[in-house]
Amino acid sequence: MNRQTALITGATSGIGKAYAEYFARRGYDLILTGRRKEVITAVARELKKAHGIAVTVVIAELSNKEGVRPVLRTIEKAGDLSVLINNAGYGERKLFINLPVQKHLDMIEVHVNAALRLIHAALPRMINKKNGIIINVASLGAYAPAPINGIYGGTKSFLNVFTESLHMEVRRYGIKVQSLCPGFTRTDFHRKMGIEEEMKKNRMIHWMTPERVVIKSMKRLGKGKVICIPGIRNKLFYALARFMPRRLYYRMTEKLYGSYLGLSG
Ligand SMILES: NC(=O)c1ccc[n+]([C@@H]2O[C@H](COP(=O)([O-])OP(=O)(O)OC[C@H]3O[C@@H](n4cnc5c(N)ncnc54)[C@H](OP(=O)(O)O)[C@@H]3O)[C@@H](O)[C@H]2O)c1
Repeated sequence: MNRQTALITGATSGIGKAYAEYFARRGYDLILTGRRKEVITAVARELKKAHGIAVTVVIAELSNKEGVRPVLRTIEKAGDLSVLINNAGYGERKLFINLPVQKHLDMIEVHVNAALRLIHAALPRMINKKNGIIINVASLGAYAPAPINGIYGGTKSFLNVFTESLHMEVRRYGIKVQSLCPGFTRTDFHRKMGIEEEMKKNRMIHWMTPERVVIKSMKRLGKGKVICIPGIRNKLFYALARFMPRRLYYRMTEKLYGSYLGLSG
């Protein structure tokens, strides 16, 4: 019997690494992408040893077309890709006008364009064999417009609409798709943004582990859920942010982000 292969972008740490562990435990061979070479090589080594699977590491900077090419070549060579998880992503903590426009375009490349390129390359064979899984890691931020969140939330919102539309195109071929919208998750994400300490102090924040997020994602995928918001508190936040009168929402959110907006106390 052919072994199945899962490709996960951004598997160095956090949610991507948790997906890698999930599929490794189930005997899938893996293709993992990341940029921190030593860290992702160590992750690959551990998974190979623990589960007796094959792991290919692709060091890839996904913020430009050239960086995505080695991943596309690996998809071509893989022959039989069963799972594609577009997880690589990051946040910024500056107002729109305070970042060079290229930085915004880079984020769109990583969250949107790279994901689209990989899906477009992987889909034909999934359609042919009438089976496959595609998960795009979006964010609860897709539903929470806020200062400093315009491009991040916008790209994640794009992934939600795109994924639901794709679902309607490919479900007839037995392909399952999902847009995962996690809330605060304990990964390297906030440390890289330089706000880990600030967030740790905030008692209002409910954190989930990446492993729990992935279990929820896979359970919901099994039930055919296309948009997955893991965790009851995240679902409540979603409902509140979505249905609160907009003017009230803007006022409350501006207050929350007062330090970025230069508002006093
Ligand atoms: N943590 C949260 O609270 C949270 C909440 C909602 C959604 N998310 C989403 O979850 C996904 C995974 O993030 P995480 O929380 O697990 O953070 P993480 O631990 O920092 O992992 C992010 C992964 O993405 C890779 N990556 C980042 N920028 C990249 C780029 N320009 N090119 C190629 N790879 C890049 C990183 O590679 P290297 O580290 O090797 O550079 C790393 O493997 C992201 O899409 C994020 O937006 C996270």
